[in-house]
Amino acid sequence: MTMEWKVEPLTNRADIDAVLAIEHASFTSPWTKEMYLAELENHGVSFFYLARAPLGEIVGFCSFWRILDELHINNLAVLPEHRRAGVASTLLSGVLKEGARLGAKRATLEVRQSNTPAQRLYERFSFVVAGVRRGYYSNPVEDALVLWKEGLP
Ligand SMILES: CC(C)(COP(=O)(O)OP(=O)(O)OC[C@H]1O[C@@H](n2cnc3c(N)ncnc32)[C@H](O)[C@@H]1OP(=O)(O)O)[C@@H](O)C(=O)NCCC(=O)NCCS
Repeated sequence: MTMEWKVEPLTNRADIDAVLAIEHASFTSPWTKEMYLAELENHGVSFFYLARAPLGEIVGFCSFWRILDELHINNLAVLPEHRRAGVASTLLSGVLKEGARLGAKRATLEVRQSNTPAQRLYERFSFVVAGVRRGYYSNPVEDALVLWKEGLP
């Protein structure tokens, strides 16, 4: 069965708690609530999108900055029990379209060298490896691959 995920901007601060729960289930150094609240004040630069299941549950999120004609994807994560069901693909499609609407022509992000699931996803969206940042991540220390995608939709 194909689920219909709904992608929408985060407009209600009450939804930050659901985002934090996904962060904690997904990353070893999650962003804090204070970081999210500060980011939300960065109007015009910092954007957050949510993916909801048909009954409204928040199952994934993506945050990005739009800087001139570049989209910098900061975070993308899906609740473990909803992975491999197209949530991240739906979110990423929505975010890339929104970025293009905002004037972005290319998109970039960093990904852990060991993060094969995310790398497969980005390959599908025609992101290519443009470089490596040595020791970029902590907990555990690991290199980051720097990916770029040209020609947003
Ligand atoms: C990476 C992540 C966001 C993918 O989310 P998702 O909703 O499961 O992704 P999708 O269902 O849209 O998957 C799309 C494609 O990505 C690839 N992919 C996703 N998970 C994969 C896995 N575990 N192994 C191999 N390929 C995978 C596949 O090509 C998949 O297509 P398929 O299911 O038809 O084979 C999710 O695993 C996650 O939240 N991981 C922890 C946080 C994280 O690493 N975020 C990325 C930081 S850069």
